[in-house]
Amino acid sequence: MRFKISPNFLTVLIALPIVGQPVCFAQSLRKEAQKLGLLVGAAVDPARFSEPLYAEMLASQFNMAEPENAMKWQATEPARGQFNFTAGDQVVEFAEAHQMKVRGHNLLWGVFNPAWLTEGHFTPDELRSIMKNHIITVVSHYRAKVFAWDVVNEAFDRNGQLKHTLWYDRPGIGLAGQGTAYIAQAFRWAHQADPKALLFYNDYAAEGLNAKSDAIYAMVKDFKRRHVPIDGVGLQMHLMDLNQIPTSVAANIARLAALGVQVHITEMDVALPMNASGKPLHRADLSRQAKIYGEMATICAEQPGCTAFQTWGFTDKYSWIPHYTRGEKGDALLFDANYRPKPAYRAVLKAFAQAARKNPKTIERRLEIEHHSLQ
Ligand code: XIL
Repeated sequence: MRFKISPNFLTVLIALPIVGQPVCFAQSLRKEAQKLGLLVGAAVDPARFSEPLYAEMLASQFNMAEPENAMKWQATEPARGQFNFTAGDQVVEFAEAHQMKVRGHNLLWGVFNPAWLTEGHFTPDELRSIMKNHIITVVSHYRAKVFAWDVVNEAFDRNGQLKHTLWYDRPGIGLAGQGTAYIAQAFRWAHQADPKALLFYNDYAAEGLNAKSDAIYAMVKDFKRRHVPIDGVGLQMHLMDLNQIPTSVAANIARLAALGVQVHITEMDVALPMNASGKPLHRADLSRQAKIYGEMATICAEQPGCTAFQTWGFTDKYSWIPHYTRGEKGDALLFDANYRPKPAYRAVLKAFAQAARKNPKTIERRLEIEHHSLQ
Protein backbone atom coordinates (compact mmCIF):
# COMPACT_ATOMS: atom_id res chain seq x y z
CA MET A 1 0.00 0.00 0.00
CA ARG A 2 1.31 3.47 -0.91
CA PHE A 3 0.39 6.55 1.06
CA LYS A 4 1.61 9.18 -1.35
CA ILE A 5 -0.48 12.32 -1.47
CA SER A 6 -1.11 13.87 -4.87
CA PRO A 7 -0.70 17.63 -5.45
CA ASN A 8 -4.33 17.72 -6.66
CA PHE A 9 -5.47 16.41 -3.34
CA LEU A 10 -3.70 19.26 -1.63
CA THR A 11 -5.49 21.83 -3.79
CA VAL A 12 -8.83 20.27 -2.97
CA LEU A 13 -8.11 20.40 0.71
CA ILE A 14 -7.08 24.03 0.68
CA ALA A 15 -10.53 24.90 -0.57
CA LEU A 16 -12.29 22.61 1.87
CA PRO A 17 -13.95 24.50 4.72
CA ILE A 18 -14.08 22.58 7.97
CA VAL A 19 -16.60 23.73 10.53
CA GLY A 20 -16.67 27.12 8.91
CA GLN A 21 -12.92 27.61 8.93
CA PRO A 22 -10.53 26.56 6.21
CA VAL A 23 -7.56 24.51 7.23
CA CYS A 24 -4.52 26.56 6.41
CA PHE A 25 -1.82 24.65 4.58
CA ALA A 26 0.15 27.68 3.54
CA GLN A 27 2.26 27.51 6.69
CA SER A 28 4.36 24.55 7.57
CA LEU A 29 6.32 23.63 10.66
CA ARG A 30 8.58 21.45 8.59
CA LYS A 31 9.52 24.30 6.27
CA GLU A 32 10.41 26.53 9.21
CA ALA A 33 12.25 23.71 10.99
CA GLN A 34 14.21 22.92 7.87
CA LYS A 35 15.61 26.45 7.87
CA LEU A 36 16.95 25.70 11.34
CA GLY A 37 18.37 22.31 10.39
CA LEU A 38 15.93 20.95 12.94
CA LEU A 39 13.74 17.87 12.78
CA VAL A 40 10.13 18.39 13.74
CA GLY A 41 8.21 15.22 14.40
CA ALA A 42 5.09 13.59 15.71
CA ALA A 43 4.21 10.21 17.18
CA VAL A 44 2.01 8.41 14.68
CA ASP A 45 -0.40 5.51 14.37
CA PRO A 46 -0.23 3.83 10.96
CA ALA A 47 -3.87 2.75 11.34
CA ARG A 48 -4.75 6.43 10.71
CA PHE A 49 -2.79 6.87 7.48
CA SER A 50 -5.90 6.07 5.47
CA GLU A 51 -7.63 9.13 6.95
CA PRO A 52 -6.93 11.87 4.37
CA LEU A 53 -6.58 14.83 6.74
CA TYR A 54 -4.38 12.85 9.10
CA ALA A 55 -2.02 11.87 6.31
CA GLU A 56 -2.03 15.30 4.73
CA MET A 57 -1.29 17.17 7.96
CA LEU A 58 1.43 14.76 8.94
CA ALA A 59 3.20 14.94 5.60
CA SER A 60 2.90 18.70 5.20
CA GLN A 61 3.80 19.74 8.75
CA PHE A 62 6.44 17.24 9.91
CA ASN A 63 9.72 15.91 8.59
CA MET A 64 10.00 13.11 11.14
CA ALA A 65 7.62 10.43 12.44
CA GLU A 66 7.88 8.03 15.35
CA PRO A 67 5.51 5.10 15.81
CA GLU A 68 3.52 5.71 18.99
CA ASN A 69 3.19 1.99 19.65
CA ALA A 70 4.04 0.10 16.46
CA MET A 71 7.70 -0.60 17.26
CA LYS A 72 7.21 -1.44 20.93
CA TRP A 73 7.87 -4.95 22.13
CA GLN A 74 4.18 -5.96 22.21
CA ALA A 75 3.85 -5.08 18.54
CA THR A 76 7.17 -6.37 17.23
CA GLU A 77 7.60 -9.63 19.21
CA PRO A 78 4.07 -10.68 20.25
CA ALA A 79 5.24 -14.27 20.82
CA ARG A 80 8.73 -15.42 21.74
CA GLY A 81 10.96 -15.37 18.69
CA GLN A 82 8.08 -14.44 16.37
CA PHE A 83 8.47 -10.98 14.97
CA ASN A 84 5.84 -8.81 13.32
CA PHE A 85 6.98 -5.70 11.51
CA THR A 86 3.79 -4.95 9.59
CA ALA A 87 2.72 -1.79 11.42
CA GLY A 88 6.27 -0.48 11.84
CA ASP A 89 6.94 -1.02 8.14
CA GLN A 90 3.88 1.09 7.30
CA VAL A 91 5.40 3.99 9.23
CA VAL A 92 8.66 3.58 7.31
CA GLU A 93 6.79 3.42 4.00
CA PHE A 94 4.78 6.56 4.76
CA ALA A 95 7.91 8.40 5.84
CA GLU A 96 9.86 7.37 2.74
CA ALA A 97 7.01 8.50 0.50
CA HIS A 98 7.08 11.94 2.13
CA GLN A 99 10.80 12.47 2.75
CA MET A 100 10.48 12.13 6.50
CA LYS A 101 12.88 10.51 8.95
CA VAL A 102 11.78 7.70 11.24
CA ARG A 103 12.63 7.70 14.93
CA GLY A 104 12.37 4.24 16.49
CA HIS A 105 10.69 3.75 19.86
CA ASN A 106 11.64 1.70 21.80
CA LEU A 107 13.84 -1.35 22.28
CA LEU A 108 13.80 -1.87 26.05
CA TRP A 109 11.29 -0.78 28.67
CA GLY A 110 10.25 -2.11 32.06
CA VAL A 111 6.53 -1.80 31.26
CA PHE A 112 4.21 -2.43 28.29
CA ASN A 113 5.82 -5.78 27.62
CA PRO A 114 3.87 -8.77 26.32
CA ALA A 115 2.55 -11.27 28.86
CA TRP A 116 4.71 -14.09 27.48
CA LEU A 117 7.71 -12.03 28.57
CA THR A 118 6.53 -10.66 31.92
CA GLU A 119 4.93 -13.91 33.04
CA GLY A 120 7.47 -16.28 31.52
CA HIS A 121 9.58 -16.83 34.69
CA PHE A 122 12.79 -16.75 32.69
CA THR A 123 16.22 -17.12 34.21
CA PRO A 124 18.72 -14.26 33.82
CA ASP A 125 20.54 -16.27 31.13
CA GLU A 126 17.32 -16.76 29.20
CA LEU A 127 16.37 -13.11 29.57
CA ARG A 128 19.77 -12.04 28.35
CA SER A 129 19.38 -14.06 25.21
CA ILE A 130 15.75 -12.88 24.71
CA MET A 131 16.87 -9.26 25.06
CA LYS A 132 19.81 -9.68 22.72
CA ASN A 133 17.72 -11.44 20.10
CA HIS A 134 15.02 -8.77 20.27
CA ILE A 135 17.36 -5.81 19.98
CA ILE A 136 19.46 -7.35 17.22
CA THR A 137 16.45 -8.54 15.20
CA VAL A 138 14.47 -5.31 15.41
CA VAL A 139 17.40 -2.97 14.79
CA SER A 140 18.66 -5.14 11.90
CA HIS A 141 15.22 -5.14 10.28
CA TYR A 142 15.16 -1.34 10.33
CA ARG A 143 18.84 -0.80 9.50
CA ALA A 144 19.22 2.34 7.35
CA LYS A 145 15.46 2.99 7.70
CA VAL A 146 15.26 4.12 11.30
CA PHE A 147 17.86 6.83 11.82
CA ALA A 148 17.61 7.01 15.63
CA TRP A 149 16.41 4.64 18.34
CA ASP A 150 15.21 5.05 21.87
CA VAL A 151 17.25 2.10 23.05
CA VAL A 152 16.18 2.22 26.69
CA ASN A 153 13.07 3.96 27.96
CA GLU A 154 12.37 5.29 31.46
CA ALA A 155 14.94 3.37 33.50
CA PHE A 156 15.28 5.89 36.36
CA ASP A 157 12.83 6.89 39.09
CA ARG A 158 12.28 10.45 40.29
CA ASN A 159 15.09 10.15 42.83
CA GLY A 160 17.58 9.15 40.20
CA GLN A 161 17.64 5.51 41.29
CA LEU A 162 17.31 2.71 38.76
CA LYS A 163 13.79 1.29 38.66
CA HIS A 164 13.40 -2.34 39.60
CA THR A 165 12.49 -4.06 36.34
CA LEU A 166 12.54 -7.33 34.49
CA TRP A 167 15.74 -6.27 32.75
CA TYR A 168 17.61 -4.83 35.70
CA ASP A 169 16.98 -7.04 38.71
CA ARG A 170 13.62 -8.84 38.50
CA PRO A 171 15.45 -11.06 37.84
CA GLY A 172 17.55 -9.05 35.34
CA ILE A 173 19.93 -10.23 32.63
CA GLY A 174 22.67 -11.23 35.03
CA LEU A 175 23.75 -7.68 35.83
CA ALA A 176 21.48 -6.98 38.82
CA GLY A 177 23.07 -4.62 41.31
CA GLN A 178 25.55 -3.40 38.72
CA GLY A 179 23.86 -0.07 38.08
CA THR A 180 23.60 0.96 34.46
CA ALA A 181 25.46 -2.11 33.14
CA TYR A 182 22.30 -3.62 31.61
CA ILE A 183 21.59 -0.31 29.85
CA ALA A 184 25.12 -0.22 28.43
CA GLN A 185 24.61 -3.77 27.19
CA ALA A 186 21.43 -2.76 25.35
CA PHE A 187 23.29 0.09 23.64
CA ARG A 188 26.14 -2.21 22.59
CA TRP A 189 23.80 -4.72 20.96
CA ALA A 190 21.86 -1.98 19.17
CA HIS A 191 25.13 -0.53 17.88
CA GLN A 192 26.27 -3.94 16.72
CA ALA A 193 23.06 -4.34 14.68
CA ASP A 194 23.23 -0.89 13.06
CA PRO A 195 26.46 1.03 13.66
CA LYS A 196 25.03 4.09 11.89
CA ALA A 197 21.83 4.48 13.90
CA LEU A 198 21.82 7.18 16.56
CA LEU A 199 21.19 5.63 19.95
CA PHE A 200 19.19 7.48 22.60
CA TYR A 201 18.25 7.09 26.23
CA ASN A 202 14.69 8.46 26.68
CA ASP A 203 12.86 9.53 29.85
CA TYR A 204 10.16 11.79 31.32
CA ALA A 205 10.32 14.36 34.11
CA ALA A 206 14.03 14.83 33.38
CA GLU A 207 13.68 17.97 31.27
CA GLY A 208 15.02 20.42 33.83
CA LEU A 209 17.76 20.04 36.41
CA ASN A 210 16.66 17.52 39.05
CA ALA A 211 17.66 14.22 40.64
CA LYS A 212 16.55 12.18 37.64
CA SER A 213 18.26 14.35 35.04
CA ASP A 214 21.40 14.36 37.24
CA ALA A 215 21.40 10.55 37.13
CA ILE A 216 20.95 10.55 33.36
CA TYR A 217 23.73 13.10 32.99
CA ALA A 218 26.05 10.98 35.14
CA MET A 219 25.22 7.89 33.07
CA VAL A 220 25.90 9.64 29.77
CA LYS A 221 29.18 11.02 31.10
CA ASP A 222 30.22 7.57 32.24
CA PHE A 223 29.16 5.94 28.94
CA LYS A 224 31.07 8.52 26.92
CA ARG A 225 34.18 7.97 29.02
CA ARG A 226 33.97 4.20 28.55
CA HIS A 227 32.98 4.40 24.86
CA VAL A 228 29.55 2.89 25.33
CA PRO A 229 27.85 3.91 22.07
CA ILE A 230 25.32 6.53 23.16
CA ASP A 231 24.48 9.45 20.85
CA GLY A 232 21.64 11.23 22.53
CA VAL A 233 19.13 11.82 25.26
CA GLY A 234 15.39 12.07 24.66
CA LEU A 235 13.48 14.44 26.89
CA GLN A 236 9.86 13.34 26.68
CA MET A 237 8.26 16.59 27.91
CA HIS A 238 4.82 15.30 28.84
CA LEU A 239 3.58 18.37 30.69
CA MET A 240 0.55 17.34 32.73
CA ASP A 241 0.10 20.43 34.88
CA LEU A 242 0.13 24.03 33.65
CA ASN A 243 1.33 25.12 37.08
CA GLN A 244 4.33 22.83 37.08
CA ILE A 245 6.34 23.61 34.03
CA PRO A 246 9.99 22.54 34.21
CA THR A 247 12.55 25.28 34.57
CA SER A 248 16.24 25.05 33.71
CA VAL A 249 15.52 23.03 30.56
CA ALA A 250 18.05 25.10 28.60
CA ALA A 251 20.72 24.45 31.22
CA ASN A 252 20.01 20.72 31.16
CA ILE A 253 20.20 20.55 27.36
CA ALA A 254 23.41 22.58 27.42
CA ARG A 255 25.13 20.28 29.90
CA LEU A 256 24.15 17.18 27.92
CA ALA A 257 25.32 18.78 24.68
CA ALA A 258 28.64 19.60 26.35
CA LEU A 259 29.16 15.85 26.82
CA GLY A 260 28.90 15.46 23.05
CA VAL A 261 25.41 13.99 22.78
CA GLN A 262 22.37 15.33 20.96
CA VAL A 263 19.09 16.09 22.66
CA HIS A 264 15.69 15.35 21.16
CA ILE A 265 12.45 16.61 22.64
CA THR A 266 10.63 13.36 22.00
CA GLU A 267 7.06 13.33 23.31
CA MET A 268 5.87 16.84 24.05
CA ASP A 269 2.27 17.47 24.98
CA VAL A 270 0.71 20.02 27.31
CA ALA A 271 -2.43 18.63 28.92
CA LEU A 272 -5.30 20.98 29.80
CA PRO A 273 -7.91 20.37 32.49
CA MET A 274 -11.20 19.45 30.81
CA ASN A 275 -14.84 19.84 31.80
CA ALA A 276 -17.44 17.08 31.75
CA SER A 277 -18.37 17.79 28.14
CA GLY A 278 -14.81 17.34 26.95
CA LYS A 279 -13.87 21.01 26.47
CA PRO A 280 -11.06 22.87 28.21
CA LEU A 281 -12.20 24.05 31.66
CA HIS A 282 -10.70 27.49 31.04
CA ARG A 283 -10.47 28.98 27.56
CA ALA A 284 -7.45 31.05 28.64
CA ASP A 285 -5.55 27.78 29.06
CA LEU A 286 -5.17 27.59 25.31
CA SER A 287 -2.94 30.67 25.38
CA ARG A 288 -1.05 29.41 28.42
CA GLN A 289 -0.49 26.20 26.50
CA ALA A 290 0.68 28.16 23.47
CA LYS A 291 3.16 30.10 25.57
CA ILE A 292 4.65 26.89 27.00
CA TYR A 293 4.96 25.27 23.58
CA GLY A 294 6.55 28.44 22.22
CA GLU A 295 9.06 28.63 25.06
CA MET A 296 10.14 25.02 24.72
CA ALA A 297 10.39 25.31 20.93
CA THR A 298 12.58 28.40 21.38
CA ILE A 299 14.84 26.66 23.88
CA CYS A 300 15.33 23.75 21.50
CA ALA A 301 15.73 25.89 18.38
CA GLU A 302 18.34 28.12 20.04
CA GLN A 303 20.56 25.24 21.17
CA PRO A 304 22.58 23.59 18.42
CA GLY A 305 22.68 20.35 20.42
CA CYS A 306 18.88 20.11 20.35
CA THR A 307 18.32 18.52 16.97
CA ALA A 308 14.66 17.39 17.06
CA PHE A 309 11.42 18.72 18.45
CA GLN A 310 8.61 16.18 18.54
CA THR A 311 5.07 16.04 19.91
CA TRP A 312 3.21 12.91 21.07
CA GLY A 313 0.66 12.86 18.27
CA PHE A 314 -0.42 16.06 16.56
CA THR A 315 -4.21 16.24 16.61
CA ASP A 316 -6.36 16.30 19.74
CA LYS A 317 -8.52 13.75 17.94
CA TYR A 318 -5.91 11.11 18.75
CA SER A 319 -3.92 11.61 21.93
CA TRP A 320 -3.10 9.30 24.79
CA ILE A 321 -3.85 12.02 27.39
CA PRO A 322 -7.66 11.62 27.84
CA HIS A 323 -7.31 7.88 28.35
CA TYR A 324 -4.27 8.20 30.57
CA THR A 325 -5.89 10.85 32.80
CA ARG A 326 -9.35 9.17 32.76
CA GLY A 327 -10.88 12.11 30.95
CA GLU A 328 -9.59 14.76 33.36
CA LYS A 329 -7.11 16.25 30.91
CA GLY A 330 -6.93 16.66 27.17
CA ASP A 331 -6.47 18.99 24.19
CA ALA A 332 -2.73 18.66 24.65
CA LEU A 333 -1.50 18.92 21.06
CA LEU A 334 -0.91 21.48 18.30
CA PHE A 335 -4.03 20.82 16.20
CA ASP A 336 -7.58 20.48 17.45
CA ALA A 337 -9.78 17.46 16.84
CA ASN A 338 -10.79 18.91 13.44
CA TYR A 339 -7.15 19.38 12.45
CA ARG A 340 -7.36 23.14 12.82
CA PRO A 341 -4.13 24.75 14.05
CA LYS A 342 -4.36 25.94 17.66
CA PRO A 343 -2.59 28.93 19.27
CA ALA A 344 0.07 26.42 20.31
CA TYR A 345 0.77 25.63 16.67
CA ARG A 346 1.24 29.29 15.82
CA ALA A 347 3.51 29.73 18.84
CA VAL A 348 5.83 26.92 17.71
CA LEU A 349 5.85 28.22 14.16
CA LYS A 350 6.73 31.69 15.41
CA ALA A 351 9.42 30.34 17.74
CA PHE A 352 11.07 28.54 14.82
CA ALA A 353 10.82 31.58 12.53
CA GLN A 354 12.33 33.88 15.18
CA ALA A 355 15.13 31.48 15.97
CA ALA A 356 15.97 31.20 12.28
CA ARG A 357 16.43 34.97 12.08
CA LYS A 358 18.27 35.30 15.36
CA ASN A 359 21.50 33.39 15.15
CA PRO A 360 22.75 31.81 11.92
CA LYS A 361 25.74 30.37 13.83
CA THR A 362 23.41 28.13 15.85
CA ILE A 363 22.05 26.64 12.66
CA GLU A 364 25.51 26.12 11.20
CA ARG A 365 26.64 24.41 14.38
CA ARG A 366 23.52 22.18 14.46
CA LEU A 367 24.11 21.11 10.87
CA GLU A 368 27.73 20.29 11.76
CA ILE A 369 26.59 18.14 14.69
CA GLU A 370 24.08 16.32 12.51
CA HIS A 371 26.51 15.84 9.67
CA HIS A 372 29.17 14.53 12.02
CA SER A 373 26.74 12.09 13.65
CA LEU A 374 25.75 10.60 10.31
CA GLN A 375 29.29 9.69 9.30
C1 XIL B 1 1.92 5.57 25.33
C2 XIL B 1 1.01 5.57 24.11
O1 XIL B 1 0.75 6.89 23.74
C3 XIL B 1 -0.27 4.84 24.41
O2 XIL B 1 -1.05 4.70 23.23
C4 XIL B 1 0.03 3.47 25.00
O3 XIL B 1 -1.15 2.86 25.41
C5 XIL B 1 0.98 3.57 26.17
O4 XIL B 1 2.15 4.26 25.78
N1 XIL B 1 6.12 7.51 27.51
C6 XIL B 1 6.49 6.80 26.40
C7 XIL B 1 5.48 6.40 25.38
O5 XIL B 1 7.69 6.59 26.18
O6 XIL B 1 5.78 5.19 24.76
C8 XIL B 1 4.10 6.34 26.00
O7 XIL B 1 3.17 6.11 24.94
C9 XIL B 1 3.79 7.61 26.75
C10 XIL B 1 4.76 7.81 27.87
